Amino acid sequence: MFKDNFLWGGAIAANQSEGAWNLDGKGPILLDFRTGGSKKNPRMLTIIDKEGNPGKIPITRGTRLPDGAQYSILENIYYPSHEGIDFYHRYKDDIKLFAEMGFKIFRLSICWARIYPTGVEDKPNQEGINYYKDVFNELKKYNIEPLVTLVHSEMPLHLEELGGWSNRETIKHFDRYVRTVFEEFKGLVKYWITFNEINNEVGMLEMFGNTANDETYQTAYQKLHYEFVASAHAVKIGHEIDEKNIIGGMICGIPHYPGSNDPDDILLCRYTWEKAIFYSGDVLCKGEYPVFSKRLWKEHNVVLDITSQDLIDLKEGIVDLYTFSYYMTNVVTTHEVTDVVSGNFAAGARNPYLKYSDWGWAYDPKGLRYYLEVINDRYQKPVMITENGLGAKDSLDSDNTINDDYRIEYLRDHIIEMKKAVENGVNLIGYTAWGCIDIVSMSTGQMSKRYGFIYVDRDDEGAGTLKRIKKKSFNWYKKVIESNGNKL
Ligand code: BG6
Repeated sequence: MFKDNFLWGGAIAANQSEGAWNLDGKGPILLDFRTGGSKKNPRMLTIIDKEGNPGKIPITRGTRLPDGAQYSILENIYYPSHEGIDFYHRYKDDIKLFAEMGFKIFRLSICWARIYPTGVEDKPNQEGINYYKDVFNELKKYNIEPLVTLVHSEMPLHLEELGGWSNRETIKHFDRYVRTVFEEFKGLVKYWITFNEINNEVGMLEMFGNTANDETYQTAYQKLHYEFVASAHAVKIGHEIDEKNIIGGMICGIPHYPGSNDPDDILLCRYTWEKAIFYSGDVLCKGEYPVFSKRLWKEHNVVLDITSQDLIDLKEGIVDLYTFSYYMTNVVTTHEVTDVVSGNFAAGARNPYLKYSDWGWAYDPKGLRYYLEVINDRYQKPVMITENGLGAKDSLDSDNTINDDYRIEYLRDHIIEMKKAVENGVNLIGYTAWGCIDIVSMSTGQMSKRYGFIYVDRDDEGAGTLKRIKKKSFNWYKKVIESNGNKL
């Protein structure tokens, strides 16, 4: 049984939905220079080199601009973030539809560059503040709690150019940004997330065929440390400004399974959990680095800049809530893998007991129960699932309906397992389905990878009317919420 006040809802992120990429004083972000793509053709960043020639560079860990080059918007290229799904102008209609489904909570992110266009200004951009105030007030009209992510894969481009999270100075600019939003939105927002999927900084280093050397690890662990400190500052500042604020950390929750019962696989699996999942969760929830950190750092000769004040801040900035995304599980093995499956964040051996989505993501509802119970035991904190869903191709039938039974089945199967976890004692307080309205896919930039209960008429090249159409899953989810998860 879910709690009576269980927070059912949906989730999106600014750069995948808002559009209005250069309106009302917003500064550019790196994602604004990112092309569309597909599973086969990766997204690229567009540039002008030092001779003035246009070009594209791949997005990999530690992407560096060639000497003298600049990120640049090129002609005749479709940039998915520029218009997104135009949530910026259509939020009233969209929120009305969320209210019709009975949402209790709606997760969205603030685009930092709308508030501080370059990140280093002394004063915020009032138009950016007004926009989010309007959105929060609109949600309030329907008694929908906003759940606000402070950093969802983006920051002002200027800060990025100054080194981003590799630069300790970024924490200072972040502090100013979060102080502004906590003050400005006091009384309008109670639930917050500091960083989206903070653990991906290290957890994804060796996925998608990427290789990582000691230098890559050094940079990643250092960035992550500064992000931990920034996250702790946000918790402290948020509590100081309003003690009612409930501030969560957020983890990309991928349970890892051993490929065999070879003790080497069992150990690898344990160590993968530690590196990819617990390392970040422990710092956020316990306020200190776990014992195994030393082993992880030593493996790659990592030496971190950690001050004694940082250690105090981490302790004082423990999160109130553990939140995570859940899409799939992953298999790790020390043995040769002939059948590799690679989804967004996982690249391991195919699990013969599971089926996979068109994008290679494992369909594993039981993995969600497993993850919830592991986390509950480890941290004993309230937990919220802030992303879950199936990215799938939808088609419009001749009568303009979308019969997305596959999505209903996916969500139903996962909610059944959530329920079992709750019965087993997990303190689960909410669930926000990812991409509750179709948005741009983060990994591929496609619109055709859809998660929503609401269809958005737009294709992968940016054509379409942007009209919203309720899918079959819209009424299904409405019933789920009405019955507090009993009618599935
Ligand atoms: C999550 C990200 O990890 O995965 C989202 O936080 C993203 O931003 C989601 O959209 C689904 O991934 P994709 O690539 O299908 O959009």
